Amino acid sequence: MSVVVFGSVNMDLVVEVQRLPLAGETLLGQNFFTAPGGKGANQAVAAARLGSHTRMVGRVGQDVFGTTLRDSLATDGVDIGGVEQDRSAPSGIAAIAVDAAGQNTIVVVPGANGTLDETDLVRLEDALVDARVLLLQLEIPVPLVTAAARAARRHNVTVILDPAPAQPLPPELYALVNILTPNQSEASTLTGIPVRDRETAARAAAILLEHGVRSVIVKLGADGAYWATAADAGWVPPFSVAAIDTVAAGDAFNGALATALASGRVWNEALRWAAAAGALATTKPGAQAAMPRLDELEVLLSS
Ligand code: RIB
Repeated sequence: MSVVVFGSVNMDLVVEVQRLPLAGETLLGQNFFTAPGGKGANQAVAAARLGSHTRMVGRVGQDVFGTTLRDSLATDGVDIGGVEQDRSAPSGIAAIAVDAAGQNTIVVVPGANGTLDETDLVRLEDALVDARVLLLQLEIPVPLVTAAARAARRHNVTVILDPAPAQPLPPELYALVNILTPNQSEASTLTGIPVRDRETAARAAAILLEHGVRSVIVKLGADGAYWATAADAGWVPPFSVAAIDTVAAGDAFNGALATALASGRVWNEALRWAAAAGALATTKPGAQAAMPRLDELEVLLSS
């Protein structure tokens, strides 16, 4: 049983700075590097490194970035048969600034991720036949995200939606989602409630459940995660690690959650896997490069 990811593949252009710039300000940075990223591809790498048979469906450009991004996914064991190289658009990129405390800002230019259309849904439908979990995010056109969720439900596949970057969701999409995983700011955008802590996360989760999702997990970074269903709710305590770069920690969380559920782990264990993977991703620079491997995860889980 596999995990399928339908989403973005980006090249990340990362600058490391002492602090994030203010509007109109020029700063000198300390370092620059390019590295494979994209919320979809990051989640695919996280799932594959933790042991899932993982298929990615998406698009890159027919350019140097596109070839590098496909090769890198394949090296990590992701099945890239569903990742097309599009002649009409360049590969997606993300301009990322990371400060000395590990906090970041990200600007994404979707490029080929924005050209996904119904033909990609055909490849997705093939991949869903023997899948257990579908991972979705919002860096590809939202109507296709909705169509993908609809297809997954037809195949009885669990849909996990990372509502990032945050934007209003069509009402139909909420009802197709099994697990919605906003972070603090995404939960605030979706509900209008300023989410700061467990209590405000619980209020936001209640609103999202009313919209029709089956479960909500509000990721609160170093403060852990709050989860709720219509019948139950709980808290996942954080793992204590030395964080240097929070980029893609949420992607590690979702990839690990998918792998744990696809391999039959129970809900509470899957949540611990997700929290541990998210924490480990903050201990290394970069996005896909920071996705943890199974042995690292097991060490943290048993600590
Ligand atoms: O979640 C982190 C990712 O967001 C980066 O890799 C970047 O490409 C953007 O998609």
